Amino acid sequence: MIRIAQPIIEPDEVEAVREALLSGQLAQGPRVAAFERAFAEYVGVPHAVAVNSGTAALHVALLAHGIGAGDEVVVPAFSFAATANAVLQAGATPVFADVREDDFGLDPKALAAAITSRTRAAIAVHLYGQPCDVAAIASICAERGIVLIEDAAQAVGAAQDGVPAGARGTGTFSLYATKNLTTGEGGFLTTADTAVAERARALRSQGERTRYVTEMLGWNYRMMEMTAALGLAQLPKLEARNERRGENAARLTELLAGQDGLVLPRALPGRRHVWHQYTLRVTAGRAARDALQASLRERDIESAVFYPAPIHRQPLYGRLGYGSARMPVAERLADEVLSVPVHPALSEDDLRAVADGVIAGLREAATA
Ligand SMILES: Cc1ncc(COP(=O)(O)O)c(C=O)c1O
Repeated sequence: MIRIAQPIIEPDEVEAVREALLSGQLAQGPRVAAFERAFAEYVGVPHAVAVNSGTAALHVALLAHGIGAGDEVVVPAFSFAATANAVLQAGATPVFADVREDDFGLDPKALAAAITSRTRAAIAVHLYGQPCDVAAIASICAERGIVLIEDAAQAVGAAQDGVPAGARGTGTFSLYATKNLTTGEGGFLTTADTAVAERARALRSQGERTRYVTEMLGWNYRMMEMTAALGLAQLPKLEARNERRGENAARLTELLAGQDGLVLPRALPGRRHVWHQYTLRVTAGRAARDALQASLRERDIESAVFYPAPIHRQPLYGRLGYGSARMPVAERLADEVLSVPVHPALSEDDLRAVADGVIAGLREAATA
C-alpha cells in the first residue's frame, strides 16, 4: 500500500524521546522551552508558545486576543472543521466566506464583504501547504482594524513574498501525525506581540501566570517533554523534507500533465508551497472523483478527500443555521478534490505508480 502520509522517525529522534522519558521531567520542562525558541526562530517571530494540538493553538489564539461572546470571526468555508470549531469553543460566532479555487484559501473579496461592525478577527487558512493570499488579507484586516489569525496547521515552512506562514498575523500550527513536522499530536502559536504570547502561556495552563494563581479561565494545553524532544530532533530536517515534497510534487505534475478532466495543483507566483498535500481536482465532479479514489484503492494506492463537505454543510453547522449559506467555490471544491501521496518517503517507483494509477483510473471512468 502506498500511503497518503507516512511519518519518518529516525534513530536520533527515537533516542531523543528515550532521553526525555528517562530525564525525570515529563511535561513542559526545558525541552519544551528549547523547542519554543527553535520554532520561533524557524518561523522568524519573537514568540512561539507550545501547546498540545493545532486546535488548542487556534482556541488560545482567539482567547489571547480577547475574542469571545458577541464577536464575529470570518472563517473560510473550505477548511478542516477545527478552524471554525475553535471559534465556537471561544464562544464567538463564525461567519463563513468563500475561498479561491486557485489556492484553496480565503478569498480576500469575500472576506471584505463578510466584515460587519461585530467582526473582531479573520482566520486565514494555508490549505494543503500553499499559503493563501495572506498579504492581501493582512491589509484588509489592518484597514478594518481586525485581528489576523493564520491557521498554518498544514503549512509549516510555507511563505508568501518571503514572509513565512504564521509571521504576519498570530500564527497557529499543528504537529499532528500526518503533518510535515510531526510529533503525533502538538501545536504552536506564534506571535510578535509580547502581551498575546504572555496571555497564551497563561491560557494553556489553567490561566496561571504565577503557579497556583488563577487569573483567568484557562485550560490544560501543555506539551509533553517527549513531544518537544521529538520535534526538536525533527526541526533541523524539515527544510530538506519540505524540499523533497516539492520535488515529488514536480515529478507528479510532470507525469500527469495534459490529462483531460484534471486540474493539477501549482505553487502560485511569490508563494512557497510546502506540499503537505498534492491535491488534484477532478472536474467531472463527485461521482468521477469517488470512482477515481476507488480505482486507486484497488491498486493499493491510498488517497484522501480533504474535505468532502465545506464546514457550513457539516451537521453541527446545519443545526446552527448555516446550512442554507451559498459558498459556490467551496461547495464545488468539496466535490472535486482528491489528494494523492506526495510525502518524502516515496520512491520514484511509487510516484510512477501513483501517476499511472490516476491516469488509468481516469480512463476507466471515461469508458464506464
Ligand atoms: C487547517 C487545519 N486547522 C486546524 C487543524 C487542527 O490541528 P490538530 O489536529 O493538531 O488539532 C488541522 C489539523 O489537521 C488543520 O488541517
